[in-house]
Amino acid sequence: MSYPFSLPELGYDYDALEPYIDSKTMEIHHSKHFAGYTNNLNAALEGHEKLQKFSAEQLLWHFDSLPTSVQTAVRNNGGGFVNHKLFFRVIAPGGPEAPEGMLADMIDDSFGSLDAFKEKLSGAAGTRFGSGWGWLALNSFGEFEVFSTANQDSPMMDGYVPVFGVDVWEHAYYLKYQNRRPDYLSAFWNVLNWDVVADNLARVIGGPAPMLKALEDFGKEIRKWADKL
Ligand SMILES: [Fe+2]
Repeated sequence: MSYPFSLPELGYDYDALEPYIDSKTMEIHHSKHFAGYTNNLNAALEGHEKLQKFSAEQLLWHFDSLPTSVQTAVRNNGGGFVNHKLFFRVIAPGGPEAPEGMLADMIDDSFGSLDAFKEKLSGAAGTRFGSGWGWLALNSFGEFEVFSTANQDSPMMDGYVPVFGVDVWEHAYYLKYQNRRPDYLSAFWNVLNWDVVADNLARVIGGPAPMLKALEDFGKEIRKWADKL
């Protein structure tokens, strides 16, 4: 997907994740906040024809090479677009109660157990001061890491590939949970679709070499012309 970016459809009804995430929160989050990031990203790229041929993920991956005039807008709205695109895919009805196969093995190997992993991610997301995200991401060695980012900062800006993220902006939970972010984080595990998470992981693990090579080439290309802007 490249410019102009459009708001991805949810793929399920706003009330599909009740009672864990309420319908009104889903509607506002998707149709107002996610739509806002999408529109603002398009506005930021208006007139930047050379940037318009790239995906939002590519722009974030090579954030440091972007013209400084668009960096803040891409950081906030490109990050907002990509983060929410992933978030609304991984929270979805269905899927098993716990991860299976390679995903389960990697979680056990990396964190000791599923419960230990959940505790670590909930802790990272729960202690993020202000607005931000908690992440399960792959580092450049293909290892799992758990951490949080501030605002709409994407793990891609630091060379990580996110597997899934949990949104801890107040707009994600305040209507139902008010200031009780830990309760929202507990509920989150009930709506996380492990099949989608496994699919995300398989896509990355299944083709890391070509993907990373493409990104490397992109980096060289974008640096060539970024200097001339
Ligand atoms: Fe959000």
